[in-house]
Amino acid sequence: MKAFVKRSDAPDDILLEEIRVPVISEDELLVRVKAVGVGIHDSYFLPQEIHYPYPIGVEAAGIVEEIGSLVTHHKKGDRIAFVSMMQPKGGTWAEFAAVQQDSLILHIPENMDFKEAAAVPVAGNTVLRALTALHLKEGDSVFIAGASGAIGTFAIQFAKARGWKVAGSASPKNHDYMKSLGADKTVDYRDSKWAHEIREWMPNGVDAAIAIQPGTGTESMHIVKDGGTVITISGDRIEPERGITAAFVPHKADVRDEVKELIQEIADGTYQLVIEQTYPFEQGLEALQKTQTRHARGKLVLTLE
Ligand SMILES: NC(=O)c1ccc[n+]([C@@H]2O[C@H](COP(=O)([O-])OP(=O)(O)OC[C@H]3O[C@@H](n4cnc5c(N)ncnc54)[C@H](OP(=O)(O)O)[C@@H]3O)[C@@H](O)[C@H]2O)c1
Repeated sequence: MKAFVKRSDAPDDILLEEIRVPVISEDELLVRVKAVGVGIHDSYFLPQEIHYPYPIGVEAAGIVEEIGSLVTHHKKGDRIAFVSMMQPKGGTWAEFAAVQQDSLILHIPENMDFKEAAAVPVAGNTVLRALTALHLKEGDSVFIAGASGAIGTFAIQFAKARGWKVAGSASPKNHDYMKSLGADKTVDYRDSKWAHEIREWMPNGVDAAIAIQPGTGTESMHIVKDGGTVITISGDRIEPERGITAAFVPHKADVRDEVKELIQEIADGTYQLVIEQTYPFEQGLEALQKTQTRHARGKLVLTLE
């Protein structure tokens, strides 16, 4: 099969190569991949014990081609979207992927195609986990740093749906976009006055912040009220002050049922799924470079014939 593989521990040593289809275990599904969701993490979310060449990637959508003897709840021919993270047998940037049955696996609604489905699981799961950690109530306010990417596009919409007031930062060219998703207030992170503008909007500070981009945690904390919360999506560690709770996305939060509902809600049009660009699979490295710029709007997806 064709797969984008990491060939050594050099960071950018990733190439499209011909490798063997993975052999599944009793508790795994073999999935014929039809579309892949792209994220900056695809090139560095790797298992500790890695055998090169290693197919990269963590999420995709496709058709179940084969199931192991212990697999329940899934059958050959099912259309699924899934997260398969850091598995020794390899990731999702391949024509076939071996997926453990206890992975996050979503059945794709009939009115959704593979391209859309591949864009949902990682960003959806991450944002739902992050929001559970904020403990906000209706009418509270949240600031989202770097809010026009894949994570921010969902975060703005889900926060609004919970009745929260939402401010987001991005370049001016993305301000109307963030407003179209529901943002009440937009600021430009490159403008030194952005924190002052947020303070004008919420004089006592916002109740919480979601710092998506690396390096935005500390500056986001400065506009959070005493005793508020900052969640960093990038994994940045920040030194909390003024009784603020600072945390990473809580990986233990179980939002599986919510993600399953989410894919249906997206199919039904409750939430907007934004895919800035779809690339033919062979152009995967171009998509990876685009996500590495940290200026993608919404999600990027690869499609396979
Ligand atoms: N993509 C996913 O599915 C996913 C899932 C889990 C975790 N993550 C993690 O989340 C982070 C990236 O999230 P993403 O994919 O949503 O974002 P992204 O595409 O990298 O981010 C784009 C957003 O960040 C803004 N931005 C760029 N540089 C900035 C800066 N210096 N300060 C503030 N904002 C800035 C962009 O604004 P402009 O373009 O308007 O300048 C845009 O709003 C990574 O750490 C990644 O590992 C991503």
